Amino acid sequence: MKNNLLAPSIIASDFTRLAEEIHACESAGADWLHVDVMDGHFVPTITVGPLFVEACKRASKLPLDVHLMISEPEKYLEAFAKAGAGNITVHVETCPDLPKVLKIIQSLGCTAGITLNPSTPASALDSALPFTDLVLVMSVNPGYSGQAFMPEMIGKVEEVRNKLNAIRSKAHIEVDGGISAETLPLMKSAGANVFVTGSAAFKHPQGTLEGVRALKKIAST
Ligand code: DX5
Ligand code: ZN
Repeated sequence: MKNNLLAPSIIASDFTRLAEEIHACESAGADWLHVDVMDGHFVPTITVGPLFVEACKRASKLPLDVHLMISEPEKYLEAFAKAGAGNITVHVETCPDLPKVLKIIQSLGCTAGITLNPSTPASALDSALPFTDLVLVMSVNPGYSGQAFMPEMIGKVEEVRNKLNAIRSKAHIEVDGGISAETLPLMKSAGANVFVTGSAAFKHPQGTLEGVRALKKIAST
């Protein structure tokens, strides 16, 4: 079984104190930093691009987990790899030829992941599953931090875990959206092992250090 990993979603942090927020994540035991890239086209919001990833890279030694919520992601893979991405995840809804896109990401020296929107069935992964390093199951509709967790996605994680087991794949299952002290254990029992967390980490009443520390403890026990 893989280690359980915590990946704070940096777009929920206070950008005026970016380096401080990143260092709090590191001190509290975060494993990866999750960077949400949104283009205002595939999702309604615009967030950050390669320049921001490059700034995170200079501020941290943690692997950068770049979640591309953008149309035509293949146009930008090289820019994100050069900026310092460790893992790049694309949405199945944006890639007509998923195995090809995964291969390009891996040839750039990154690990490659595929993501499903809540309304996309797990069967959409089938053609690409043997080639992927990670499957990301969204437990909110992508676009914003701070949305309510969709409990229907617990069953989807179980389904993806069964599919990976059936082909003896060692790929990670990551979950993203509404992950908190209450919902993380549900996704862990379903078979997820990488937990993205935005609001629960960065909007914790006692601050980021405590927010990340508390979730890391739940993820690893
Ligand atoms: C949603 C993003 C998430 C988001 C998570 O589109 O992919 O990574 O920032 O934030 P929370 O944990 O607040 O749902
Ligand atoms: Zn994300």
